[in-house]
Amino acid sequence: MMAKLAEWKQIGKWTMTVGAVLALGACGGNKGDAAKADAPADSKGGNVELTISCGSVGQDYEMCKKLTDAWAQKTGNKVKLFTAPNSSTDILALFRQQFGAGSSDLDVVMIDVVWPGILKNHLVDLKQYSNGAESKHFPAIIANNTVDGKLIAMPWFTDGGLMYYRKDLLEKHNLPVPKTWAEMAETAQKIQDAERAAGNKDMQGFVFQGKAYEGLTCDSLEWVSSFGGGSFVEADGKISVNNPQAAAAFDTAAKWVGTISPKSVLNGGEEEARGIFQNGNAVFMRNWPYAWSLMQKDDSKVKDKVGVSPLPAGGEGGKSTATLGGWQLAVSKYSKHPKEAADLVMFLTSPEIQKQRAIEGSYNPTIPELYKDADVLKATPFMGDLYDVFTSAVARPSTVTGDKYNEVSAAIWNATSSVLNGKSNGADAAKKLEEDLTKIRRGDKW
Ligand code: GLC
Repeated sequence: MMAKLAEWKQIGKWTMTVGAVLALGACGGNKGDAAKADAPADSKGGNVELTISCGSVGQDYEMCKKLTDAWAQKTGNKVKLFTAPNSSTDILALFRQQFGAGSSDLDVVMIDVVWPGILKNHLVDLKQYSNGAESKHFPAIIANNTVDGKLIAMPWFTDGGLMYYRKDLLEKHNLPVPKTWAEMAETAQKIQDAERAAGNKDMQGFVFQGKAYEGLTCDSLEWVSSFGGGSFVEADGKISVNNPQAAAAFDTAAKWVGTISPKSVLNGGEEEARGIFQNGNAVFMRNWPYAWSLMQKDDSKVKDKVGVSPLPAGGEGGKSTATLGGWQLAVSKYSKHPKEAADLVMFLTSPEIQKQRAIEGSYNPTIPELYKDADVLKATPFMGDLYDVFTSAVARPSTVTGDKYNEVSAAIWNATSSVLNGKSNGADAAKKLEEDLTKIRRGDKW
């Protein structure tokens, strides 16, 4: 009885959040207006019509359209695109609402690497459809996507945090690519000051993901881990965040805001950072691989001016850390066409399509073999040069915290945000985060 009540409360809470998300989407008036899909609703000429939700960041939508059209043509089926919001946090709220209602509106969903424990009860076991294709993918991602022996999602692309820098500006000011956060801040300040003095009034030193959402948890993990402060919650379930290195990492990031980073980063995610950087207005940017292909387009103001390196290391004894990200494709348990939906998933996650997406969209493949492919390496050299960054990326504590991960992450992004906004300091925020996480854990086990 108790559990039931808690579940209902949870659903009620999410429904409210989703309402807010949808209302925002409608005001924004972008192509992402939540419940709109592209294709006509008839299924003439095909057997079934599927709806897929496959992202709206960067080239997500465009490429999804092109590739699902190719599958539709090949099979005679139809595919409609559902445009999800671009924040991972908002997409999760939406899916939880859809799944909570048992809705068959979505057949195929793109799910974040941190969600298997949260969505496991709503997704189809793909093993019955995969023909063993999972053996070609990174075993760690397959393990991540396997819950209670069920393969609930196929890996689509993997992600790791990267440092983008303006090659031309570092050369012009005769400064090396920074290896530590302190060097980064110093270099950013110097170039920002010099460029502003020379008339580039909008120049910023560093842009990152600072708004309170999943993206900030990713950036925060990179700072904390790079200072040797752990991963908030360790793989054995221990809450580790209340330590001086984590506090120092928070304080370091807070100093960037209003000096080398515009205050607007506190309201921005991946796309806002990319907008500033791609317009030529930042020296450094923390972002994921997808941003690379967009920088290289003809309409990009920074075409051929960008370098990519591992993220800087923390202070003494620090190391460079990239947060492990990435997206998978899954079939909803409520789909009326699970067989066709699974076929679409297997097509989109196949080596051929992953290769195409790596070349055209710089989406990192989840198939190790493709990191040796000459065409992939030519289009996106960092996939080879920074291979280790991707294979040693640090995971957020989603496996150990399971279905509580989103609450855990919300506590992390709120604590980090409180320091970035000057409402707390590193030590107090680390202590409070430890208390919050302890409450979320309720007892010894997650
Ligand atoms: C990227 C990552 C994903 C992460 C998200 C946060 O999309 O691939 O794992 O949760 O960014 O904004």
